[in-house]
Amino acid sequence: MRRLEQQGFELVQWPKDSSMPRETLLKDVRGAEGIICMLSDKIDKQVFDAAGPQLKVVSTMSVGYDHIDLRTAKEHGVKIGYTPDVLTDATADLTVLLTLAAARQMKSGVRAAETGEWREWRPDWLCGYQFKGKTLGVVGMGRIGQAVASRLKAFGIDRVIYWGRNEKPGLKESLNAHFVTFDELTSTSDFIVACCALTPETKDVFNYDAFKNMKKNAIFVNTARGGVVDQDGLVKALQENLIAGAGLDVTNPEPLPTDHPLFKLDNCVILPHIGSATIEARETMGDMCVDNVLAALKNESIPFGLKY
Ligand code: DGY
Repeated sequence: MRRLEQQGFELVQWPKDSSMPRETLLKDVRGAEGIICMLSDKIDKQVFDAAGPQLKVVSTMSVGYDHIDLRTAKEHGVKIGYTPDVLTDATADLTVLLTLAAARQMKSGVRAAETGEWREWRPDWLCGYQFKGKTLGVVGMGRIGQAVASRLKAFGIDRVIYWGRNEKPGLKESLNAHFVTFDELTSTSDFIVACCALTPETKDVFNYDAFKNMKKNAIFVNTARGGVVDQDGLVKALQENLIAGAGLDVTNPEPLPTDHPLFKLDNCVILPHIGSATIEARETMGDMCVDNVLAALKNESIPFGLKY
């Protein structure tokens, strides 16, 4: 805000620490030359139309951009800025955290310690799974997927496989990672992490059949978008113990209602979409948003822009 104000821009902003209500967005966006938005703001045709023809840039404080209608942006000649790279480490760290938490029954362990369920040391109580010699399957081997794989290799993962739109050059050499079919990934991985963008191809890709195809000891982790999982299918799979556990940083919807069945499952750890929530990442993301807006309003090419 300070940087934009110093440049003499008039800022119209939502002053509360919550998403801007849709009606306010549609009203306040009128006449804007730039929009800074969050992943919770749906920037669709209605918003582009409400803004008007002077709109030059939409700058989202996120690496994901599934909330922005790119086709309409293109039609309106509006640049789209986002925040790649800077949140890779933070998100990969949190993916590891959730993988460990789900694999080692952290939810039940914390509850037991806090409630008195913790009695004497017992040899078979709250046993989970370790990584040594296991197979990691990554869906979406982009920056974050690769960072997760290299971290988990340090925990002893033996085989890394991945699935996505195409095979990525160099990954055999750098991570000894192999491109496989979705079916092979789900049926042979011990740990499965979703790090992909939400697209028509990945929407609901983790459905009941996919979970049914997984190993009984499989741990599923999603730090991508809630929309890549058919949540009813996941609930059923966890209830039927088709897989051993799940760790979710993203859900559908967000926030997930507190009475949702996923919260009732001991084998499901849920965090409130905090993958990139480190001070370092968020401060840099904010600066990148402003860099994008400032460049676009000077009619320069934007430093962190989407090519679409
Ligand atoms: C993103 O940037 O898309 C993450 O989901 C939140 O930082």
